[in-house]
Amino acid sequence: MSASIIDGKQIASEIKDEIRDDVARLRARGIVPKLVAVLVGENPASQVYVRNKGIACRDVGMDHETINLPSETTQGALLSLIEKLNVDQSTSGILVQLPLPKHINENSIIHAINPAKDVDCFHPSNVGRISTGDPLFLPCTPAGCQELLLRSGNDPAGKHVVIVGRSNIVGKPLANMLIQKTNGANATVTICHTGTRDVAFFTKQADIVVAAAGKAEVITGDMLKSGCAVIDVGINRLKDESKKSGYRLVGDVHFESAKDVAGAITPVPGGVGPMTIVMLLKNTMKAAQI
Ligand SMILES: NC(=O)c1ccc[n+]([C@@H]2O[C@H](COP(=O)([O-])OP(=O)(O)OC[C@H]3O[C@@H](n4cnc5c(N)ncnc54)[C@H](OP(=O)(O)O)[C@@H]3O)[C@@H](O)[C@H]2O)c1
Repeated sequence: MSASIIDGKQIASEIKDEIRDDVARLRARGIVPKLVAVLVGENPASQVYVRNKGIACRDVGMDHETINLPSETTQGALLSLIEKLNVDQSTSGILVQLPLPKHINENSIIHAINPAKDVDCFHPSNVGRISTGDPLFLPCTPAGCQELLLRSGNDPAGKHVVIVGRSNIVGKPLANMLIQKTNGANATVTICHTGTRDVAFFTKQADIVVAAAGKAEVITGDMLKSGCAVIDVGINRLKDESKKSGYRLVGDVHFESAKDVAGAITPVPGGVGPMTIVMLLKNTMKAAQI
């Protein structure tokens, strides 16, 4: 058996088309969604992420602005900027690119963002609202995973979903989303982590496996149930002398062995990655209407 590929690039492009139409409709009503990204320091990966978010905004007709601050920016100065953006009428969504320099307490910054502009959905108020089934926003990567499942015909309803990883960014919020008694969720969810004695015991029972361990290729084909759907959130660099860059990207799933067992699987790259930015655009559009 060879799994069908869940094409994140294609699905993300379809959703972008939908968002582009929605933005045009909003603009016609005088509402202009605008994402403001704040980048502190010169982390090259963060610079790429922020640049790509700006490109995506332009692509769907949204306004965007990147505020670059030097790495020595104080926590107080960053908090003052957030206070300004919180009340700025033209700013729909605020995104503070993480990680921040070590001298800045990330939680203080996240807590300072107006929850109605928290398009990353990291503010505790927004995280809590996911748990209680009354979300304002959905966090971008988990929302991307859910959307990939739905649009590829793998509705989680009634299924056993095993999530490998319990981070605040992926594993925990996704679990909270998928246990809700709502459309697109209503799953039985198990979360595995490094304290789980036998991860394969659980993944072998799963109708859907979501790998978010941050460890290259730890989920192998022999850990899966035949025909299951696999969402690979992981992005890991493996040394590869045959590549010009000297590395290749792999997921947390060993794709070659998994594709022979699974019924459907996301590739890396081209799976969850493109969905994350699209979900950020969706949140910004929503924020513009609050
Ligand atoms: N595609 C995207 O847009 C996107 C977005 C975000 C993240 N990612 C990628 O997704 C991956 C996960 O990100 P993250 O931020 O959630 O990572 P993280 O904060 O490092 O969390 C990893 C989680 O996996 C668990 N874990 C690690 N090794 C494990 C193993 N061998 N078996 C079972 N559980 C294990 C850890 O358990 P403990 O809690 O016990 O330590 C932890 O809960 C990374 O590769 C990251 O680059 C991709």
